[in-house]
Amino acid sequence: METNDLIYLDNAATSFPKPPEVLASMHENYALYGVSPGRGSYDLAVYAAELVWQTRVKLALFFNAPEPSRVIFTANATDALNLAMQGLLQPGDHVVSTQLEHNSVLRPLHHLRERNSVEYDLVPFDQQGLINPDDIVRAFKPNTRLVVVSHASNVLGTVQPIKEIGCLCAEHGIPLLIDVAQSAGHIPVNMQDLQVSVIAFTGHKALLGPAGIGGLIIAPDLDLQTTRFGGTGVDSHDLRHTQIYPHRLEAGTLNMPGIFGLSAALDYLEQKAEMLQKQEMLMTKLLYDGLKEIKGVRMISPEPKGESVPVLTCTVKGKDASVIGEILDGDYQIAVRTGLHCAPLVHQVLKTAETGGVRFSPGPFNTQAQIKLAIEAMAEIAAMW
Ligand code: ALA
Repeated sequence: METNDLIYLDNAATSFPKPPEVLASMHENYALYGVSPGRGSYDLAVYAAELVWQTRVKLALFFNAPEPSRVIFTANATDALNLAMQGLLQPGDHVVSTQLEHNSVLRPLHHLRERNSVEYDLVPFDQQGLINPDDIVRAFKPNTRLVVVSHASNVLGTVQPIKEIGCLCAEHGIPLLIDVAQSAGHIPVNMQDLQVSVIAFTGHKALLGPAGIGGLIIAPDLDLQTTRFGGTGVDSHDLRHTQIYPHRLEAGTLNMPGIFGLSAALDYLEQKAEMLQKQEMLMTKLLYDGLKEIKGVRMISPEPKGESVPVLTCTVKGKDASVIGEILDGDYQIAVRTGLHCAPLVHQVLKTAETGGVRFSPGPFNTQAQIKLAIEAMAEIAAMW
């Protein structure tokens, strides 16, 4: 399939295309050093382990996390969130989370409630798509052991007041786990400044790395129980899984191409993040201004001002969003994501669960001409009925 003419506006699902520098570095490093790290004692395996360690160090710097050994590699943010919740919660514990969450939080919580007698409450968001930190505190119970909040909404593009929530959680001695799948790479995520205990991230969205690599970053004063067991390359004589970080939470051979790609993506962002973020927010504002003027288009996302991420969702004249997505794709070669975006509660609250929403998520490589075409396409589609 020819992708040259495609207008890709689904970067919240995954960023595309990836920077050529990232793809080239992945290929080169995997060709040269793609052996199992930290297992064999030959030089190449030792060097591969060093490259993995350097990536942990880069991630710790990127998120201002104190200890690189507490950077754990996972497959993606969902995997990291599962690992965190299962490693932190015991039967009878209570969790506070929000109605903005993705199924990557809602489903593990549901599972833990069904299987492990964990209870939870979800606090609402306001008309601006924001959580009130005081609502989180009001939901605390004597058995509250964890707060889970997504930093940025994958439906609305709004950014939560994590610093205030982090401060309140710290005052109450309750760990805060944040899902930065939609924020890392778009806006700063400073673990220590935000007073966050655990960060779950993915590499393939705004970090511009490949799919299949993500991670968990854990503050030094919090321990997660091991919930996956297996080979680590250390203490092989012992049937018990090592409790030393990072191996405590990693089992099996690491995703080396993913780690190489993520490492290159972090280097790329170090040089270009400011420029890329400026471009994607410029495109998002342009798109918002154009869409909001179209008769029959109802914006669900608030206007992107202040801190926000490049995600805009709307509905068109009460039509099923999948119909709009099909026309955008078939007639205009514009790729968007329609439906519930794996965040069903957001759509329930906004009364868009029946139709779903049409989500546009610009990336750093979209041009002004592409955004203008998308606005024109939406104007023509809205005029069809
Ligand atoms: N969670 C991703 C999205 O919102 C896949 O599209």
